[in-house]
Amino acid sequence: MPSTFNVELLKNKLHTSWLGSEFLYIDRVESTSSYLKKVPSSELVHGTVLITDNQTKGRGQYNRKWSAEPGKNLTFTIAFRPAAADRLTLLTLTCANAVTTVLQDLLEQSVRIKWPNDIFIHGKKVGGVLTECCFNGKKLDRVLIGIGLNVDQTFTDSELKMKAASITSFTNKAISREELLSKLLEAIELGYKNWHKFDNELQKAISQKMIGYGEWVSLQINNKIESQKYKFLGVNQKGELTALNEQLDVKTFSYEQIRIIPDRTKVSETEYQKSAGK
Ligand code: BTN
Repeated sequence: MPSTFNVELLKNKLHTSWLGSEFLYIDRVESTSSYLKKVPSSELVHGTVLITDNQTKGRGQYNRKWSAEPGKNLTFTIAFRPAAADRLTLLTLTCANAVTTVLQDLLEQSVRIKWPNDIFIHGKKVGGVLTECCFNGKKLDRVLIGIGLNVDQTFTDSELKMKAASITSFTNKAISREELLSKLLEAIELGYKNWHKFDNELQKAISQKMIGYGEWVSLQINNKIESQKYKFLGVNQKGELTALNEQLDVKTFSYEQIRIIPDRTKVSETEYQKSAGK
């Protein structure tokens, strides 16, 4: 059943020191990320969180749409104001890692990150992260991290059902969106702290959560599958992908236009592209 997000309940449960101190709820908005882009710089507090129950023009990665049934999911954006535009891929992954950690604790099941920033459970996408940066001239003004989680979304389209799922489908427990969001914000605040202090353990934790980590995988770069295999070594301090090629040279890849295809998938390029919705 759809419900209205209970802001008071969230505030009572939330134990962060700064993330979400400025907490905004709008019942209906085109996109929480687009909205926070327009807030004047002088008024935007680091750690502002905006959530909506009804996002009418949600945006996903690669200019895709992000659809969420009103009152059943989590669609929110966090505005961070770091000093410099460095290591932002790692910041995105830090947030994805926090989401997987919270969901793993809740569901007691493996929750993984699929490069670049999808949240997967048992091969199905349950959420995603969209990062956008706004600059004031050359200076970074804000980083908007938008997170969409399918909490209790019903998928009717059979093709979509194969690829996506809701968190509720993996548990019999009732899920409170307010409680889930409070845990997510607490985990993201901790992740941000570790990101800020260049904690090396962070990228290790992220790497271990990534699909294909430690395996010989195929890489698809700009829609073309590389002829050789790579051993996926995870992400480095900047959040770049690192991999060993067949000549045992360490290669780094920084772009999002990369897909990691675990070898066990063993599908042809066309089949893979079909299943990835390309
Ligand atoms: C993806 O494509 O996997 C990323 C989806 C990100 C969706 C979230 S929902 C809240 C925020 N507002 C948007 O318009 N998009 C992000």
